[in-house]
Amino acid sequence: MRHLLNPLDFSVEETEQLLDLAGDIEHNLPKYAHVCDGKKLATLFYEPSTRTRLSFEAAMLNLGGSVLGFASADSSSAAKGESVADTIRIISCYADICAMRHPKEGAPLVASQFSSIPVINAGDGGHQHPTQTLTDLLTIRSLTGRLNNLTVGLCGDLKFGRTVHSLIEALVRYTGIRFVLISPQELRIPDYIRTDVLDKKGVEYREVDNLDEAMPELDILYMTRVQKERFFNEEDYIRLKDSYILDNKKMELAKETMYVLHPLPRVNEISVEVDKDPRAAYFKQAQYGVYVRMALIMTLLEVEKPC
Ligand code: NCD
Repeated sequence: MRHLLNPLDFSVEETEQLLDLAGDIEHNLPKYAHVCDGKKLATLFYEPSTRTRLSFEAAMLNLGGSVLGFASADSSSAAKGESVADTIRIISCYADICAMRHPKEGAPLVASQFSSIPVINAGDGGHQHPTQTLTDLLTIRSLTGRLNNLTVGLCGDLKFGRTVHSLIEALVRYTGIRFVLISPQELRIPDYIRTDVLDKKGVEYREVDNLDEAMPELDILYMTRVQKERFFNEEDYIRLKDSYILDNKKMELAKETMYVLHPLPRVNEISVEVDKDPRAAYFKQAQYGVYVRMALIMTLLEVEKPC
């Protein structure tokens, strides 16, 4: 039995196969309508979510399966003090696969150790968000036709943004990837990403605080929200929250072929005027999230691809 806790749980080849399957799903959706008939997905969300939870549910429904679960810790027995280990033992009796989001880093890993069904990490604290990464990879590959030879700008809250951590870990496995890490000093990437991932792999990267200067060289601009819920005090959040606001004026500095991604939700960091720019790919990205989660559910449940 396999889980997805970290993007590296799938090799580059396996990731490629999963993205190929997601691509086939995108173009032949009806073919997949019954491949998970009778199967159940549990969504265990101890933290707020719109896209991740609902795209998982839509994915399972698109495959013919059913969904059950909870959308907040308050409405589960966590509010009574039940441990993740006990909860997952119970859920294993009710469902065939589960997606878990938790504010504590490592909670889905603990769950996987007590689970008899595949566990998918749907975001654990400020740590990792592997299914967002699969979504990001599919989006980048579909739009640019490649996952190598890219200059990727990651902008905003690189310290607490789990989507950024997972995306860096996944992308360093491809050739010719350069990163421009754009953030205020206080929100730079954690040391473990800098030393254990970027430095160790000898990846080319620059840490800067000016978005305008970085714009012209980027193939992908990955914007992120400042993660309010991970701050220790509100003053710091208020001071840093509007560090970057992407608008049409900034977009003029970018290549015609650059794409803007954002895992969403956005707060202020992308002005709504940018939505009309053909390079704005964040809503499309959310749609790819459904196809990639369909492919992931099929892969972890070892469902055969229909002919
Ligand atoms: C992200 C998350 O939860 O980490 N959202 C998502 O899953 N698409 C990004 C965020 O909340 O800023």
